[in-house]
Amino acid sequence: MPLVERPIGIFDSGFGGLTVARALFDLMPAEDYVYVGDTGRYPYGSKPLDEVRRYATELAHSLIDDFGAKAIVVACNTATAAGLEGLRAEIDVPVIDVVVPGASALVSATRSGRVGVIGTVGTVSSGAYVHAVGAAGARAEVDIDLTSAACPGFVEFVERGQTTGDEVTVLAERLLAPVRAAGVDTLLLGCTHYPFLARTIGEVMGPEVVLVSSADETAFAAMDRLGALGLLRDASGVGTRRFWSSGDVDTFRELGSGLLGVDLDRVDHWPGR
Ligand code: DGL
Repeated sequence: MPLVERPIGIFDSGFGGLTVARALFDLMPAEDYVYVGDTGRYPYGSKPLDEVRRYATELAHSLIDDFGAKAIVVACNTATAAGLEGLRAEIDVPVIDVVVPGASALVSATRSGRVGVIGTVGTVSSGAYVHAVGAAGARAEVDIDLTSAACPGFVEFVERGQTTGDEVTVLAERLLAPVRAAGVDTLLLGCTHYPFLARTIGEVMGPEVVLVSSADETAFAAMDRLGALGLLRDASGVGTRRFWSSGDVDTFRELGSGLLGVDLDRVDHWPGR
């Protein structure tokens, strides 16, 4: 099959990457997509980064070798924060991540320069956003004052399909206290699971704080990159979407359809490599 006709591969530890997948589907509906949610091994955020890097490498190789992916979208901040240099060096398809696009979106949206990022323990402790937001601020010549907060527990709520309610609110009030106290005007949801909790996060942060997710920006980055490489399909068609999960397939279909608001009819078991 010619390279241009091959699918775009997407992966995450579970359902979070569906927020990025949705933006990709909307922007490039003619493409075929293969999504792998590593629900059998989630969460990534509390695991050592070298273990997450190993999983990310395995998933990327599977997307290329088993599904013929022409590009990989790493729809997971923790996997990106674990370091993708090795992966980029050993595979010859484009690898698009969520951290750089998210940092650019954050810097573009702020008015005061006081910004926040929330993410998993792995992402926040890696310093990936301190680096990426600093670089985006320097490029845009904006003075940035960044406050980061890890939000352990948020991903688990999403993976259970519990996105609102008292328990989520109580946890959000506690974990978001540092970014509220810092008086940020813009908050980046630096974990692809968090947009599913946007209602609660928005209520806790208050209406004056703008929430930014990396999903749209990542989709634009993917389109630019594929376009520049001549890897975009003829835009007049409609592509296919296949989903794979390393965990329970029925749970993935049911919860994923609920979260995405679209039926995930083609879900299979990803056996690993
Ligand atoms: N959705 C992922 C992220 O963006 C990982 C969540 C997890 O498995 O802890 O970081």
